[in-house]
Amino acid sequence: MYSPAILFLLSSAFISASMANFGTDVDVTWGGQRAVVTNNGQQLSLSLDRSSGAGFQSKQEFLFGKFDMKIKLVHGNSAGTVTAYYLSSQGALHDEIDMEFLGNLSGQPYTLHTNVYTQGKGNKEQQFHLWFDPTADFHTYTILWNPQQIMWYVDGTPIRVYRNHESSGVAYPSKQAMRMYSSLWDAEDWATQGGRVKTDWTQAPFTASFSNVDINGCVWSGSGSSCGPSSSSWMNQVLVASDQQKLAWVQKNYMTYNYCSDAQRFPQGLPPECSLA
Ligand SMILES: *[C@@H]1O[C@H](CO)[C@@H](O)[C@H](O)[C@H]1NC(C)=O
Repeated sequence: MYSPAILFLLSSAFISASMANFGTDVDVTWGGQRAVVTNNGQQLSLSLDRSSGAGFQSKQEFLFGKFDMKIKLVHGNSAGTVTAYYLSSQGALHDEIDMEFLGNLSGQPYTLHTNVYTQGKGNKEQQFHLWFDPTADFHTYTILWNPQQIMWYVDGTPIRVYRNHESSGVAYPSKQAMRMYSSLWDAEDWATQGGRVKTDWTQAPFTASFSNVDINGCVWSGSGSSCGPSSSSWMNQVLVASDQQKLAWVQKNYMTYNYCSDAQRFPQGLPPECSLA
């Protein structure tokens, strides 16, 4: 039997969907000792060596949410390494929303790779360079996923928007709950300069650090979802005019790849959402 006090704690933990502790709110799923939680759960670091990388995932699943995390990426020669931060559901027909940081030679820019999968199908990549050195300090990376759109932010600046065009027959991730995942792993076959530059293992172990994890989401319990008290702001968030300007600035100056501009790749025609506002 639970005492009323414990019942209260359990139910408030369920309703309050914001989380901020690596010690209690995430599970390290691989890499063992390569994932280290410090500062009473306020920070977590992942490392990568020749035999393994490491990763963690949120304990809870969410159907829509705003996911903020501060990350300080692998410094120096990070070629071949990938630091991933993403949401994903499970199974072959899964939904997924990605932010992946592809390492580079010292002094060469990281590539921030974004993608959306719906029902197991992706092919919606946009890639960016950043306007700062992401290895010198922590920066905030945000995935905001609501029923109208998905927005990716870097330090509060929107870099990409993917709108819900279900009414025009374009699939949108709106029915499968997702967990938040992060990992550091080796992808020297493709990650850096198209796979031409390999990982320099003499620099190992490589380390990426995470802090200030903050999730305001609708917790999925298997049969329904419950939104936290602060849900309303992000649930209805759209880009205001000043955000539109920032987005245009990033897309003009820092976008290095856009699937919607890659006609060669889609000989049958660009995906329909590319021509929808
Ligand atoms: C690495 O640097 C090269 C040269 O500046 C750049 O073209 C590329 O986009 C960068 N990122 C990756 C992941 O290769």
